[in-house]
Amino acid sequence: MSTTSDDLDLFTPLFKYFRRLPEINCFKEAYSIETHPTLFEHCPITLTIDVDPSLGLQPITTWSLYSCKFSDGLYFLSNSFTSAGQRQWIDRCINIYPRQDKTNLGDNSNNQHLARIRWATLGYHYDWTNKIYKQGDHTKLPNELAQLSETIVKVISSNTNCPMMQPEAAIVNYYHINSTLCAHTDHSEYDALTKPLISFSFGNSAVFLIGGHTKSECKPSPILLRTGDIILMTGASRLCFHAIPRILSDPLLNDILYTNMDDNDKVCWSYIHDKRININLRQVYA
Ligand code: SIN
Repeated sequence: MSTTSDDLDLFTPLFKYFRRLPEINCFKEAYSIETHPTLFEHCPITLTIDVDPSLGLQPITTWSLYSCKFSDGLYFLSNSFTSAGQRQWIDRCINIYPRQDKTNLGDNSNNQHLARIRWATLGYHYDWTNKIYKQGDHTKLPNELAQLSETIVKVISSNTNCPMMQPEAAIVNYYHINSTLCAHTDHSEYDALTKPLISFSFGNSAVFLIGGHTKSECKPSPILLRTGDIILMTGASRLCFHAIPRILSDPLLNDILYTNMDDNDKVCWSYIHDKRININLRQVYA
């Protein structure tokens, strides 16, 4: 059977390219403000609100918000977490969220099995097999997580076209250095698909690929995500194919996050030094 240009997969070849590329080249080729400044447009933040200190955020005046010129509706936010704040979120993902909610290891797993944890769901739990959420399958979304995403979306919305959202479901992804996440779209959120999806990165770096609404629509763009970075998918980008082809060991991670360690930090560092954690939140119902 011949392949037409309509069904030519432009996503998989780039996924495989970054999967195999030497780490040092990934850091150079994946888009960041430092390496590809012309691909990002700075969005000044004018809103000033009081931010709850327990969220681990820097004062809003230090945040750097950009719209990504290569993907309509995609925003990139950096410099918003303190180091202590990031340590706190990593600690929650290691010590609290896997125990409270559903994980790939079953319900209420404990951190003796941490090495085998791949995901935890909070709020409305995602049914991975049927790719749906069910009204009845719900546990409380942790307050601090709801508050964190509401705060960030409020600030971004005040300076862009991004609509507000009510966070109702979170997925925590735990990546080892060799983990990948295949190309997918997030389209199970019933009639909340016009609402943004917010995604937080902690620990080692990653190459995040974002393409079009089909794998053949356009060649995907690679973005470098570092610890503390936040992306927000809204508008056209909300339903675009995206993937993680590569986790990159960040040589500066110890310096950024764990210079003076107490005993609990040592436990967290022994986990995160060769891992990456992603927390993403979305509204499920209108
Ligand atoms: C996802 O798309 O579900 C996660 C993306 C990431 O790990 O940054």
